[in-house]
Amino acid sequence: MRARVISNLCIKGSYYKLTIKPSTSIRAIAGQFLMIRPAAYQAFYEPLLPRPFSIHRLSPDGNLEILYKVVGKGTAILARCGNNDEIDFLGPLGNGFPVRLTKGSSGEILIVAGGIGVAPMLYLTESLRASCPEKRVIVFEGGRETVDLLCVEELKKIATEVILATQDGSTGIKGYVTEALEWYLHKRSSEMQATVYACGPNPMLKRIAEIVYPLNVDTYFSLEATMACGIGLCMGCAVKRKGGGYFLVCKDGPVFRGETIDFDF
Ligand SMILES: Cc1cc2nc3c(=O)[nH]c(=O)nc-3n(C[C@H](O)[C@H](O)[C@H](O)COP(=O)(O)OP(=O)(O)OC[C@H]3O[C@@H](n4cnc5c(N)ncnc54)[C@H](O)[C@@H]3O)c2cc1C
Ligand code: FES
Repeated sequence: MRARVISNLCIKGSYYKLTIKPSTSIRAIAGQFLMIRPAAYQAFYEPLLPRPFSIHRLSPDGNLEILYKVVGKGTAILARCGNNDEIDFLGPLGNGFPVRLTKGSSGEILIVAGGIGVAPMLYLTESLRASCPEKRVIVFEGGRETVDLLCVEELKKIATEVILATQDGSTGIKGYVTEALEWYLHKRSSEMQATVYACGPNPMLKRIAEIVYPLNVDTYFSLEATMACGIGLCMGCAVKRKGGGYFLVCKDGPVFRGETIDFDF
C-alpha cells in the first residue's frame, strides 16, 4: 500500500514521529505493526528490506503515526523523508494486544515500556482506558536517560499513575524499569491480581516473566525480532515456544502470553 508523508519530525535526540496518510482507510488495534519502506529508495534496493514499526496512533482523520528511533541504515533513510514523500507499507500486521479482558481477569492493569517499546503503549493505554474505564492503569516507563522517556505527558493524562525509571537516575527511579515494577509489586499484596502488558527489549520481557512467575498475573508481551517479510514467509523472526517448537513473531504475534515463550533464544 502507498501513503504520503504528512510530517516527519525529530521530537528529541534520535527519536522521530512520522505521520502518514494512507491511500485507503486503515483500521488497526494497538500492538499491530507495519512493514515500511520509503518509495523513493525502492529503485536502489536500499535498504533491500522494509522495516517493522508499531502503529503509534491512528488519528480520527485516518492518519497513521509511527514513533521511531534512528538506529541504523533503514531508520536513517526514513528520517530523511520529507513532507509529501511516498512511503510503501504492508499492514496492519500481527495480532495486537487484547484490550477486552476476559471475565476472570481482575485487578490492576500494569503497562511496562522499555525505550522505544513505548511506541505502541500510548495507543494501548488509550484503548484500555476506553474498554476498562473502572480499572487502575499504572504505566512503568524506562530508558537509559531522560531523553529516552517519550510520551510521558500524554501518558500522565490518561493513566492512573506513571512511574518512570532511568538507568542513570536522571529521572524517576534509578535503575531498570523492571526494578520499578518489582518494587511496585512488592509494595502491593502478594495476593494482588493484575494484567501486565509489556513492550521493550527481549531481556526486559524475560526479567518481567521471572518477576511475575510466582504471582497471580496475566502477561501479554510484544516481542522484538528481526523481520524480513512480516507475513510468515522468511522464518527470520522465529522465537522458541515453551515446551518445544517455534512461533513466528510476525504471524503468531507480535503479542504473546508471557508464559508461552522460552526466552533462552
Ligand atoms: C513488531 C516490531 C515493531 C517495532 N516497532 C518499532 C517502533 O515502533 N519504533 C522503532 O523505532 N522501532 C521499532 N521496531 C524496531 C525496528 O524495526 C528496528 O529498529 C529497525 O528495523 C532497525 O532498522 P535499521 O535499518 O535502522 O537498523 P539496522 O541497520 O537493521 O540495525 C541497526 C542496529 O539495530 C539493531 N536492530 C535492528 N532491528 C532490530 C529490532 N527489531 N529490535 C532490536 N534491535 C534491532 C541491530 O541489531 C543493529 O544493532 C519494531 C520491531 C518489531 C519487530
Ligand atoms: S518476518 Fe518473515 S516469517 Fe516473520
